[in-house]
Amino acid sequence: MPQRYSQIAIVLHWAIAPLLAFQISVGWALESLGARGFSLFQLHKSVGISILVLTLARIVVRYWKPRPAKLEGGWQGALASGVHVGLYAFMLGAPLTGWALVSTAKVKVPTLIFGTIPLPHLPLPAASHRLAEGGHSLIAWLGIALFALHVAGAVRHHFLMGDGLIWRMMPRRSVALLVGLPALILVGFGVGRAILPAPAPPVVPVALADNGTTADDMAEDGDDAVDNAAMAAGNADNGMTNVANAVVAEDAPVGPPPAWTVQPGGRIGFSVGNDGEAISGSFGKWTADIVMDPDHPESATIKAVIDMASASVGDAYKDGMLPGDEFFGVAAHPTATFTATGAEKTGANAYRAKGKLTLKGVSRPQSIRFTLSGSGDTRKVTGSASILRAPFGVGNGDSSNGLAPQVALDFSFTAKKK
Ligand code: HEM
Ligand code: HEM
Repeated sequence: MPQRYSQIAIVLHWAIAPLLAFQISVGWALESLGARGFSLFQLHKSVGISILVLTLARIVVRYWKPRPAKLEGGWQGALASGVHVGLYAFMLGAPLTGWALVSTAKVKVPTLIFGTIPLPHLPLPAASHRLAEGGHSLIAWLGIALFALHVAGAVRHHFLMGDGLIWRMMPRRSVALLVGLPALILVGFGVGRAILPAPAPPVVPVALADNGTTADDMAEDGDDAVDNAAMAAGNADNGMTNVANAVVAEDAPVGPPPAWTVQPGGRIGFSVGNDGEAISGSFGKWTADIVMDPDHPESATIKAVIDMASASVGDAYKDGMLPGDEFFGVAAHPTATFTATGAEKTGANAYRAKGKLTLKGVSRPQSIRFTLSGSGDTRKVTGSASILRAPFGVGNGDSSNGLAPQVALDFSFTAKKK
């Protein structure tokens, strides 16, 4: 019988222990981090699956390499063995319940282990999600309790019994290792704490004004102020042409407004603050039907249809989240539609259309602003809108805690008269 565990068993013992401490330290913070924790979620899952692999290797080693004989019989020996079995169950159970919980979540977030190997989702029924989630959280506490018993046993052997049992799990007799290897567990926990992002700034509640003005309206008023400033600037620049336009506009006979075809190469982009950073992306597929006489915007009709599944923020793994129920709910609501009848002139070439946005099955008033440049049969259209996401139920889950309430939309395209 060997005097100590095989070197490989010892290495695995002292590698897995700090990784578990790291997992618990990060895991406890994950839920409150929401979307800010995206990369941390990926890391937690990657390290967790690594622990699963290392544990499987460790179990193979356990039966392959001879182990030292049991030191103690009786109930103490049985307790020690029972705790070891429990620790193996913890090392396997924690990653398996974690894997099960992400596989059964409503919003299926893909996992890329250390940014390279995709982790498939386990084929489990969605109904098992709560069990997996509860189990994952509970197992960590059971692991901590077993760990306490395990360490108490090691300390008892070392200080009370002085039988040198601890050296069986040390590569060699060295005080530095005796202190250093257990200290790695604290390091693992500390690293987990240290890499957490700074706490989110407190969310300032948006109060309703007395007259029932909503935050939406207020934001719009703010935008109008910007529009108006732009208009003033535009007027200053284009004073002459503006007056000329106004004269022409009033005199011109009102015929049927022309229809416009959107040329390929246009863009509808979006951007939303995410805890100080910005997540921006665009929609790859959309169509717009525009009928408008720039001089008589009041008779315009605008309809834009956006294919919500075409949204991308340029990161395949975040893109995997967008179609889910937490964000666009694409399965039930594949498109978003903006319609407006009539637009108003807010500047030399600037317009505003107050219309209706239907997104994720919810319809609400929404205004967009745009400017036209060019002349004749071709116009370049650039514009923007500020959309309050909450009423549409976009970002209604845990991973959206850090997302700003307003999403900025921008668009630019070229339109040709039909
Ligand atoms: C291997 C050891 C692992 C340990 C010790 C561990 C530990 C933990 C702990 C303590 C939490 C906090 C639970 C709570 O809210 O009370 C947590 C959360 C979480 N873990 Fe793990 N974890 C491990 C592996 C994994 C793996 C492999 C995955 C996925 C593939 C995973 C996914 C998650 C997720 C998604 C959460 C957030 C839970 C939620 O939203 O309720 N974990 N983990
Ligand atoms: C300060 C922390 C730790 C110390 C001092 C320690 C010490 C030891 C010692 C001395 C043994 C050999 C017992 C014997 O020969 O009968 C052992 C075995 C074992 N330890 Fe630890 N350990 C620690 C942390 C952990 C952690 C965090 C885990 C896993 C969660 C763990 C899992 C195990 C397992 C499963 C065995 C049994 C190995 C086998 O016979 O298959 N230990 N540990």
